[in-house]
Amino acid sequence: MFSTAFLDLPALQGASGTVTLPGSKSISNRVLLLSALCQGTTVVHDLLDSDDTRVMLAALRQLGCGVEVEGTTVTITGLGGQLKHHDAIEFFMGNAGTAMRPLTAALAVLGGDFTLKGVPRMHERPIGDLVDALRLLGCAIDYLGNDGFPPLHIGQPLLKVDAPIQVRGDVSSQFLTALLMALPLAAKTQDIVIEVVGELISKPYIDITLNLLARYGIAVKRDDWQRFTIPAGCSYQSPGTIHVEADASSASYFIALGAIAKGDGIRIQGVGADSIQGDIRFMDAATQMGAKITSGPNWLEINRGAWPLKGITLDCNHIPDAAMTLAVMALYADSPTTLRNIASWRVKETDRIVAMATECRKLGATVEEGPDWITVHPLPKGNWKAASIHTYDDHRVAMCFSLAAFNATQVPVRIEDPKCVAKTFPDYFEALFSVSRANTQDIPVICIDGPTASGKGTLASRVAQALGYHYLDSGALYRVTAYAALHAGLTLEAADEAGIADLARTLPVRFEGEAVWLGTEDVSDAIRTEQAGMNASKVSVFPAVRTALVALQHSFQRLPGLLADGRDMGTVIFPHAPLKVFLTASAAQRAERRHKQLISKGISTTLDSLRADLEARDARDSSRSVAPLKAAQDAYQLDNSSLSIEASVDHVLAWWQAKQPF
Ligand code: C5P
Repeated sequence: MFSTAFLDLPALQGASGTVTLPGSKSISNRVLLLSALCQGTTVVHDLLDSDDTRVMLAALRQLGCGVEVEGTTVTITGLGGQLKHHDAIEFFMGNAGTAMRPLTAALAVLGGDFTLKGVPRMHERPIGDLVDALRLLGCAIDYLGNDGFPPLHIGQPLLKVDAPIQVRGDVSSQFLTALLMALPLAAKTQDIVIEVVGELISKPYIDITLNLLARYGIAVKRDDWQRFTIPAGCSYQSPGTIHVEADASSASYFIALGAIAKGDGIRIQGVGADSIQGDIRFMDAATQMGAKITSGPNWLEINRGAWPLKGITLDCNHIPDAAMTLAVMALYADSPTTLRNIASWRVKETDRIVAMATECRKLGATVEEGPDWITVHPLPKGNWKAASIHTYDDHRVAMCFSLAAFNATQVPVRIEDPKCVAKTFPDYFEALFSVSRANTQDIPVICIDGPTASGKGTLASRVAQALGYHYLDSGALYRVTAYAALHAGLTLEAADEAGIADLARTLPVRFEGEAVWLGTEDVSDAIRTEQAGMNASKVSVFPAVRTALVALQHSFQRLPGLLADGRDMGTVIFPHAPLKVFLTASAAQRAERRHKQLISKGISTTLDSLRADLEARDARDSSRSVAPLKAAQDAYQLDNSSLSIEASVDHVLAWWQAKQPF
């Protein structure tokens, strides 16, 4: 997951390949609650790991449910309709509507002394219609802040289920879902009837609820979309094992990707055209716009069809979440696209009509909006503007706008707060990058070169962290090469140059976080000694060795970008890098830093010998005939003798930012 302040997407050229999608948020949280309400144990496979499911799991643990998590498989030991803990429990619901609404209903029917609160945005999301319906039923619910909104307090109910319970259906279908999942708890001796007032929006989500209730032994009778009857005496039965389908709304981004990007097609694993999720109907809308889609059990394959895409006018009531993706596809169309019947966008994670309109306009588009509709005009080639997309703590805004990086004007797109995708798809950007292609020259590289112990490694890895970029410690490659050569019985003398170069060409080196692996051996410590540094410096003078390591170093230039640290990153390996920094510090300073480092590791050494070593290494690195240590002509010089690490990082980030079009 990218937890940086922003993520810059370079202009992307095309996409091909397979993505496996995480489990559906809607199905995951329903299955968790139903598993908690029934007796016995349910093994849930392919559960989504996200903010919303974590909120739900935490709440279930607080109630005394058995919860065992092993990767994406979670085993729930249910409560059997009896709460183990019900005294003065405070639940934190974050911004998870799929946890807040159904838990409110279930806890209100079960009764106890509960407080439910969330982040400030959660306290702006309406829940009044659900509370009204639950109060009709005799539930004891009080508002702790503003009437109609969380936070809430729940007490002991005096249930009366003889009259039909009315609930509004035109604000959020989650209210009805919440009631449908909770009321079987109360349908002991008589049927419970729920009547929907006003037109029911997002019917497909109710379908998911009914479908899953049936899997848990509750056969709800549905009369049109108006009346739902929960039969007396029903009880939740664990299905034993249940698989969560991949999220169909998450699929929408990759369906759109297949329709937009040049390539050999995108295959989506985990969900097929026969999904129980309404959002799968996004397929039809994408097809109307031009996508070519085929499907089989649990997979979809998408290719570019019509290009440019075709503008459409569509009632999106049945695909409210996935429809946001259409707004970005509309930028690539031949005529305007109007999405209608999307009033529910206004009460989601953010006001999504405002968000989509504002951010599309930043890209240069003309957008019109009304109370429950939006019209997005196409953006012709050449008219796209590089934009920093604000994401409003809304996962879908972030994911949608990543698709703008395929624009024909070839401008990059900045996504602010990329970690907001964690709500439903924590590894969204990794998945996007795994199938996307950019021109090599568009994948940014920042080079940080400089002498030994100048602090390059720390600086480069901090900047990499801040930007979400990959990190290449090229010195480690020379260190590993020398290590491998000695282990293979070679000397580090000129006579063995060819042998060392052969080893370097197929070096099985891997970086995993801070650790460096050579084949199956963790060599992290072995290559970090002073002696290993000296050895590296010896092998690094051999031209054949340097050439042998070029391809490996180039292979680190991957989306979304690279921080490369070494001696010749800016001069030889990445001569076209858009930012090069030459880091220096006085020999005295560097010797002192290294001294501190070694002492803290319990290695005894003297300042004088360290300084002598450093100077010897500098001399060898600077005087060698091939790729000597020197600043590239276009490098920024940074003397960090008297700078803190943070200050150095800020310098580099400021130089980088000054080169961005945002
Ligand atoms: O940066 P580090 O101290 O790990 O580098 C070890 C040695 O590897 C350096 O002293 C230098 O001789 C060599 N090296 C190089 N070119 C690079 C990186 C390191 O020659 N790009």
